[in-house]
Amino acid sequence: MQVVDLIRTKRDGGRLSDDEIRWFIDAYTHADIADEQASALLMAILFRGLDPAELAVWTAAMIDSGDRMDLSGVGRPTVDKHSTGGVGDKVSLVLCPLVGACGAAVPQLSGRGLGHTGGTLDKLEAIPGWKALLTPEQMLQQLHDIGVVICAAGPGLAPADRKLYALRDVTGTVESIPLIASSIMSKKIAEGTESLVLNVTFGSGAFMKRLDHARELAETMVRLGTAHGVRTTAVLSRMDTPLGRSVGNAVEVAESIEALSGGGPADLLEITLALASEMLTLAGISTDPAPLLSDGRALAVWHAMISAQGGDPAARLPVATQREIVRAERSGYVTGVDAFAVGVASWRLGAGRSRKEDPVSPIAGVLCMAKPGDAVEQGQPVLELHIDDPTRLPGALAALHGAITIDAEPPIAQPLIADILRG
Ligand code: URA
Repeated sequence: MQVVDLIRTKRDGGRLSDDEIRWFIDAYTHADIADEQASALLMAILFRGLDPAELAVWTAAMIDSGDRMDLSGVGRPTVDKHSTGGVGDKVSLVLCPLVGACGAAVPQLSGRGLGHTGGTLDKLEAIPGWKALLTPEQMLQQLHDIGVVICAAGPGLAPADRKLYALRDVTGTVESIPLIASSIMSKKIAEGTESLVLNVTFGSGAFMKRLDHARELAETMVRLGTAHGVRTTAVLSRMDTPLGRSVGNAVEVAESIEALSGGGPADLLEITLALASEMLTLAGISTDPAPLLSDGRALAVWHAMISAQGGDPAARLPVATQREIVRAERSGYVTGVDAFAVGVASWRLGAGRSRKEDPVSPIAGVLCMAKPGDAVEQGQPVLELHIDDPTRLPGALAALHGAITIDAEPPIAQPLIADILRG
């Protein structure tokens, strides 16, 4: 086969055959196709799309490019969660131990943050001693013993996605619904989970800015999961405002521990409990998850999970010694705290990375001291920037210009969860 024929077919709006798709994924994974030709095909797909049958074969080929984990020995129903990302999205840190405490096994193979959205592994690495890298045997043992593992995906899991995602990242071809759906679902299906709940976010701090695009992505992923025998549900949630009050690494771990100890902000609890309830339904478990946050059972699973991966759950988290306060410019009601701006500010302070090799600061971040609906007086603190490297402060402050809106009337509250799609 000649890759140029596939490029021409897709460029002109045609269909790729099953054999062509399987050949392309296999050849690109094994470095038998040049990056420039793969980029051209990805760009043609971005403009022309993949129909449902093409996407099913594309996703299956990505799964088959590596290993599919066998979780049958875990001894509990397996259920995972994936979020398409957001600002202050620390949900996995609370949700995974909570669902584990309810009797399911949560095999979360997670990623690092890139750009303005944080990564779960980066957050957990703020805990002294905690390790993201486990062997498949260690992962299975931990799932069996504790019921929860959050660790880095190994190189054998959907290696086609590793190569294709890196190429999409530098060729402007990330924003394609079939490419995003196949990228996420190939990894989740290869992970071997029986059930999956997707939190598909939309709004300024999300990957998808619009609800209709998020819905299309959610429907596409639910279809792919179901077709591969993974019971899949998608929760569509709003991401215009940072979730909770903290954005960064150590600060988000601290807020998660608060939620696991029976406290925590209302929006974080609402989305966590909604996702937990969907996960438990798919896993066939009828336990009400809410009491496990206040009675210490979810926190006990968190302690066990952190210790099993070398972390010290009792260690003090790193804290910033230098802080900068952003104050309300006028009195009134906060009507907006722009998630994208806060995410960029936290990233510029050092909590996130621009290139995947960059280190991140555990300390840097932003605390939202006021959220939409709160009444504020002029001069009252609305944001607290946690600074690790002072040279980064001007860039962060520039990102926050216009991020807080204050009006005379309170905003009309929008529901955090816009819809739930069950496969
Ligand atoms: N996350 C992924 O894993 N893949 C994408 O394509 C986009 C977000």
